[in-house]
Amino acid sequence: MGSQDEGGVIRTVGILGAGKFGLALARLALAASYRVLVAGSGDPEGIASRVDALAHGAEPIAAVEVIRADVVILALPFGTHGSLPVAGLRDKLVVDAMNRGWDADGTDRELTCHRSSSEMVQAQLSGARLVKALNHVGYHELEDDALPVGARGRKGMAMAGDNPRDLDTVGAMITALGFDPVVVGPLKDGARFEPGTEAFGARASAEELRALLDRPGRGRVVPRAGRTDGAPDAV
Ligand SMILES: NC(=O)c1ccc[n+]([C@@H]2O[C@H](COP(=O)([O-])OP(=O)(O)OC[C@H]3O[C@@H](n4cnc5c(N)ncnc54)[C@H](OP(=O)(O)O)[C@@H]3O)[C@@H](O)[C@H]2O)c1
Repeated sequence: MGSQDEGGVIRTVGILGAGKFGLALARLALAASYRVLVAGSGDPEGIASRVDALAHGAEPIAAVEVIRADVVILALPFGTHGSLPVAGLRDKLVVDAMNRGWDADGTDRELTCHRSSSEMVQAQLSGARLVKALNHVGYHELEDDALPVGARGRKGMAMAGDNPRDLDTVGAMITALGFDPVVVGPLKDGARFEPGTEAFGARASAEELRALLDRPGRGRVVPRAGRTDGAPDAV
């Protein structure tokens, strides 16, 4: 088993969510030689054939078993974060790849302007070491754009988190997955690459992404046309 907690090295990636994004991520992680555990909302048997067909080599597990992984990636609908295995994720390195407003999840959009979605997840996951990342790239692009280190055309991947060591650890995984990590700031700055910002879906190099995020007034939630309450568009 990996020793992320001991040495900041990720060997086993756990993914909560066996949908379009979770399985694309699983394929990418397998290609990067990680051991991959994947859970859906039910029994592992229920996703076994889909995982075998779409992410051969990944291991279907029950959600509570994800604590066996060195890092847990949240790839389930934002509206389900209330059902996360909170106790098992305490002290765990967790990557929030979820997007509020992406899916018809019944989220209260009014909260968007006051608190980043990852801060809401952090409030739910007391004690988890949360990093927001991987959310602003579509599942098709995740695979299409992944390139080896040093290849021309590598794209940037924004990250936000409060612990520099955890950002380093997740950054190393993102590098291995095929993207150049771009640290945006503390967890609250995850709002700068949520849906409705210019960075969301930008498919930009690290340099371009950084410039996009740093431009005054950019990387902020774009008010929905015709609305005055600042609620973002779903993307
Ligand atoms: N699609 C993209 O391109 C993309 C890109 C970046 C980020 N994201 C984010 O990734 C998340 C998933 O998107 P998606 O497109 O993959 O959705 P999706 O295809 O609908 O898949 C959602 C998955 O989440 C699982 N799930 C639901 N509740 C769960 C729970 N309590 N525990 C474990 N798994 C649970 C579902 O399992 P069951 O089928 O067993 O219910 C399903 O496998 C969203 O937050 C989205 O914003 C998506």
